[in-house]
Amino acid sequence: MIVKLLLDRKREGHALTPDEIRALVAAYTRGEVPDYQMAAFAMAVCCKGMTDAETLALTTAMRDSGECLSWDDLPMPTADKHSTGGVGDKLSLVIQPLAAACGLGVPSLTGRGLGLTGGTADKMESIPGYVAGLSLADYRKVVAACGCSLTVQTGEIAPADKKLYALRDVTGTVPSIPLIVASILSKKLAEGAGTLVFDVKCGAGAFMQTRPEAVALAKALVAGAKGAGRKSVALVTAMDEPLGFTVGNALEVQEAIDVLKSNGQGARCPSDVVDLSVELSARMVSLAREMPLDEALELCRARLADGSAYARFADMVRLHGGDLGAFEEEQRRVEDAVPCRVEAASSGFVATIDAQRVAQAAFELGAGRAQSTDTIDPAAGVRLLVTHGGAVSAGQPLAMLYAPRRRERLAVAARLVQDAIAISPGASAATPLVLEGVE
Ligand code: URA
Repeated sequence: MIVKLLLDRKREGHALTPDEIRALVAAYTRGEVPDYQMAAFAMAVCCKGMTDAETLALTTAMRDSGECLSWDDLPMPTADKHSTGGVGDKLSLVIQPLAAACGLGVPSLTGRGLGLTGGTADKMESIPGYVAGLSLADYRKVVAACGCSLTVQTGEIAPADKKLYALRDVTGTVPSIPLIVASILSKKLAEGAGTLVFDVKCGAGAFMQTRPEAVALAKALVAGAKGAGRKSVALVTAMDEPLGFTVGNALEVQEAIDVLKSNGQGARCPSDVVDLSVELSARMVSLAREMPLDEALELCRARLADGSAYARFADMVRLHGGDLGAFEEEQRRVEDAVPCRVEAASSGFVATIDAQRVAQAAFELGAGRAQSTDTIDPAAGVRLLVTHGGAVSAGQPLAMLYAPRRRERLAVAARLVQDAIAISPGASAATPLVLEGVE
């Protein structure tokens, strides 16, 4: 293989053969193709695109660059959900145990947060003692014992994606649908779940900001999964406003626990988190157990209401070494010592809650990382006290800010949250949560 000749052809918009793509990815993974040539390849794909056959070859080559797990030894069907990432997106914490309580095995490896979007592994590690970095052998044992496990992804899964994604991040080559599809799908396919549900977030707080872009990605993911022999569905869901009331690691874990413990009802259970968790879990159950969607929805609501989803969550946390009692006690202590409130400057109705600004505020408070080596403060974050369309009067508290380790950033974060919550004289309806389904 002469890499320069492949690059010449790709630059001119010609399709490479599956064998050429496989050879390129394998050589890059072994360190035989330098980053500058792979960056040129990624840029050529960004500019000229890829055929479906090329995208599939890239996906499967990246999948096969590392370990591919099989769950055939589990007695139940397996499914996984992937979200393209949004502000306050703690749905995996509810969906994994809920789908497990509905009879599925949910082998899902999770990531750490970088930039404004939080990572599920970081969220779970705000529980004292919780070990997200299990060995593959221990991860298997946890999934076999309770049906689910929130474990951090290791270098053994799709290492070609790990290298290529880091390169794309610094060479302006992230926004290319074939590259995004190959990146997401290679990992999900290697993780081995039998069926996949994609939650493609769309809006100001999401990676895909417009509906046509989000729908195109959703269609490409479903088509790619089908090409690789995996059944999947995608939902395009709204991400202009944060999901739920909380943004920040421990705050989000507590919110997920509140949803699971109080059976999806009550003042501390945001309806968007409950509704979307049930909808996505039901899609997983319907696909994996070949059950009509109506029945799957009913089953998910029942398993949330009867406490069996919470029982799975508690089992999973215990098996990962976590102490839920200590977590909830510490959380009550942090939330009782309220350091900063943001109040409404005028009376009216909440017109929008800008997800990006709320995420920036949480980041300022210490909830995120600018670089992968930064440490985060699990207790830092924002609790919203109002929702879209709600009536507010001047001086009413709109949000609480928590920053035990970065009190000097409270003023900046408070300004961001104040600007994020727009108040208008009239009430407006919220955007529907699910914008489109793709099968
Ligand atoms: N998430 C991924 O895992 N890969 C991408 O390319 C984009 C988002």
